[in-house]
Amino acid sequence: MFIITVIKLLLIALNIFPSRFTNRRIMFLIYMTNLVTHVMMDEPRFAQPIPNVTVAVGRDANLPCVVEHLGGYKVAWIHIDRQMILTIHRHVISRIPRYSITYTDNTWLLHVNQAHQDDRGYYMCQVNTNPMISQVGYLQVVVPPNILDIESTPSSVAVRENQNINMTCRADGFPTPKIIWRREDGEEIAVEKKKKVLVYDGDVLPLTKVSRNEMGAYLCIATNGVPPSVSKRIILDVEFSPMIWVPNQLVGAPAGTDVTIDCHTEAHPNCFALCWALPLN
Ligand SMILES: *[C@@H]1O[C@H](CO)[C@@H](O)[C@H](O)[C@H]1NC(C)=O
Ligand SMILES: *[C@@H]1O[C@H](CO)[C@@H](O)[C@H](O)[C@H]1NC(C)=O
Repeated sequence: MFIITVIKLLLIALNIFPSRFTNRRIMFLIYMTNLVTHVMMDEPRFAQPIPNVTVAVGRDANLPCVVEHLGGYKVAWIHIDRQMILTIHRHVISRIPRYSITYTDNTWLLHVNQAHQDDRGYYMCQVNTNPMISQVGYLQVVVPPNILDIESTPSSVAVRENQNINMTCRADGFPTPKIIWRREDGEEIAVEKKKKVLVYDGDVLPLTKVSRNEMGAYLCIATNGVPPSVSKRIILDVEFSPMIWVPNQLVGAPAGTDVTIDCHTEAHPNCFALCWALPLN
């Protein structure tokens, strides 16, 4: 502070006797006044930068602008992205009703109530000195992920065995959510030439030559660092033709004794009735 005052004094002193002015007395008075005001009165200055504030959509945010030695000058808040003056001094200029301003202890606090995505962006705090001074802060408005059912695979889907299927999950939110897939039963997923992974990254889960082992519940999970994460459960049905096998093709037994004939089927959808339709003598 002392050094700044000394520099100011030096600069002013160098200007005290400019040769081209004839009425040196008047000029001297002007410069003396200038000198006194400069030394006695401090110009407005920002005491700290505006922080970068992050808020979830629908929540309230505050941006502080701390100005020392404001004197008779006024502080204005401007939303640069909208090119809109929001407040001047204690008055709200913007018609957007979510903005308000309070002043305590050199701090001009801009309130953004129930933040919208449009409120995201750079905010300038300006003081009408000549030349004006300003500083800028950023309001980040984040949005938790949301799975778009209409653009995603339905919660139950069927595919014939050995066919391919792409299961899709799309989500919006800000920042853009990342999608991962896992099986509900914790089994691995065979993707890309049957490489096995526990977790697959991407909106689209490509399953090729689906086998009956891949039948089951899959979860797609959308995350973007803003809680809560969301998931969707998709049941994959793999349809295959009935397969029947009888371990003992020929069962011999003495007359009058009980006989058990084993018959196994595997099919999806199941069809138990089929097996026992075999002709028995
Ligand atoms: C706010 O973010 C911008 C850019 O991301 C950076 O340049 C600036 O220093 C940050 N301000 C504070 C107070 O952290
Ligand atoms: C799955 O997506 C890939 C890449 O987009 C495409 O080449 C393939 O035909 C799709 N498969 C099916 C079954 O829709």
